[in-house]
Amino acid sequence: QAAASLQQVCEPSAYSDDESADHMDWDNLGFGLTPADYMYTMKCSNDYFEKGRLSRYGKIELSPSSGVLNYGQGLFEGMKAYRKEDGQLILFRPDQNATRLQTGAERMCMPSPSIDQFIDAVKQTALANKRWVPPPGKGSLYIRPLLVGSGPILGLAPAPEYTFLVFASPVGNYFKEGLAPLNLYVEDEFHRATPGGAGGVKAISNYAPVLKAISRAKNRGFSDVLYLDSVNKKNLEEVSSCNIFILKGNIISTPATSGTILAGITRKSIIEIASDYGFQVEERTIPVDELLEADEVFCTGTAVVVAPVGSITYRGKRIEFKTGAQSVCRELYSTLVGIQTGLIKDNKGWTFEI
Ligand code: COI
Repeated sequence: QAAASLQQVCEPSAYSDDESADHMDWDNLGFGLTPADYMYTMKCSNDYFEKGRLSRYGKIELSPSSGVLNYGQGLFEGMKAYRKEDGQLILFRPDQNATRLQTGAERMCMPSPSIDQFIDAVKQTALANKRWVPPPGKGSLYIRPLLVGSGPILGLAPAPEYTFLVFASPVGNYFKEGLAPLNLYVEDEFHRATPGGAGGVKAISNYAPVLKAISRAKNRGFSDVLYLDSVNKKNLEEVSSCNIFILKGNIISTPATSGTILAGITRKSIIEIASDYGFQVEERTIPVDELLEADEVFCTGTAVVVAPVGSITYRGKRIEFKTGAQSVCRELYSTLVGIQTGLIKDNKGWTFEI
């Protein structure tokens, strides 16, 4: 039955916005999974991606010896569709996700969809699931593209077949804190990435290893973990699911993407918005001690958006930062979300109406 549901091809007339999502409690969306109706699948063998198709969201058939299950050969992306007041849907910089997937695929020895194939798949998924896009101001439809080695393999080698899959879920705020400031814990023992590893790409294998650090920090009452570099054990890297920025005076700094830092699309957008506001933005090495001097700290990511950090605890010392309505973080958040939701005119060509 699972295989049958994947095979069930949905013609455009089979999906529509007619059925409402009235039962949804749009005011209380968190980042839990509420699978939207349709997913998109496109298979690839011999470096050729066949025509993709929409089908009902459901289980997929996967060989027990698939590359992804055995060796973690997989990548994911995260992006969001917003609903404008006029009902139109907006995607934010989908070309950037497409390009990042290609870079990651090259690193993980996988073929990747073309930019057009990627954008078309995301667009089809968003439109087919239109009823799951929250009303304006209530959240977004989180879209999760996956590229995995789905073909069977025993020896350590690239899989013989790949699956590109896109599913979606309506979401609200990522952290249970909502928009309230986060309390981060600097991790001394575990590291997120190593030089020469795959920390700079969105490999699925970058995420499970941080679960232990997150759970330890949460048990101690913290919101999430801030990792340090694995060589010197003193420079800021990133938070489990997002990039980090610090503000001191007119200077906004964020760790440089030199291989261990994920090239976040929100990160890149905030760098541009902050520069437009006249801040001096520096991508560089940031020793953890600089937190002592920082005025503000904030995190950026697709899921996280721009989240204020109220405190960071390092080796038992808690450092506090400015947050609130007058903060730079709040200003950057409002501008970004304004552009993403169509409330602020997009002069940058970042938004993509569908
Ligand atoms: C995103 O921000 O889209 C991510 O990929 C982070 C994920 C761990 C939720």
